[in-house]
Amino acid sequence: MWPYPTMIAHRGGGTTAPENTLAALAAGLRHGYHAVEFDVMLSRDGIGVVMHDPDFGRTVPGSGSVAATDATDIAQLDAGSWFGPDYAGERVPLFVPFAEFCKGHGIWMNIEIKPAPGHDEATGRYVAATVKQLFPLESDATKLPLLSSFSATALAAARAAAPDLPRALAFGALPDDWEGQARELGVLSVHVDHAHLTPALAQAVKAAGFGLFCYTVNDPERARALLSWGVDAICTDRIDLLPADFN
Ligand code: G3P
Ligand code: MG
Repeated sequence: MWPYPTMIAHRGGGTTAPENTLAALAAGLRHGYHAVEFDVMLSRDGIGVVMHDPDFGRTVPGSGSVAATDATDIAQLDAGSWFGPDYAGERVPLFVPFAEFCKGHGIWMNIEIKPAPGHDEATGRYVAATVKQLFPLESDATKLPLLSSFSATALAAARAAAPDLPRALAFGALPDDWEGQARELGVLSVHVDHAHLTPALAQAVKAAGFGLFCYTVNDPERARALLSWGVDAICTDRIDLLPADFN
């Protein structure tokens, strides 16, 4: 039902390094994490970049947007200074070398398909087709990345492009028809904001046969409670507080 690690570093390295950067992956490794979640969006020229926000301004300088900028220009942007001067050299990673780094270092990936507005289908298709190319001969299904998204459209496109890759549907709070949506998309797991989860809802997800992943859990007591409810995976920003072998 959930064949992957329990503890997962949010956006590469949580709050220990600038999000969605190679420095974040290095920080995760230093903390013993070999499982990460990160976000992939398409540039103007249709290349995957590792970014959470569709618009510049928070993690990179400027006032442009990912969908209106070519990948080579996005890859020049400073993705570290917002976090601290020590990270001023960090750049926005392109998806392929970022995923290759993970694969090469034995880091399991939950790749969140994060479409810029209006680009759901293209982003889902791109991520799935690219992952398929990156893992052409993988016979161990537990090593394949899990493709998640809040966008049903993106997940449907991912399924069409690579039906055999595992998928996950993400929600804030679970809507009444969560199970129908999850079955329709053929997902392996359901990802929820832990703040909206209850023991009864957790039990319902597990009883329906889905994996259950909670984000973003930064308090050890809360993480312990969620695990006692049957939650399978905890996505955390506090890889410094919650060790990779937390249980
Ligand atoms: O996939 C878990 C989590 O990353 C979803 O929220 O906004 O951090 O991408 P967000
Ligand atoms: Mg995410």
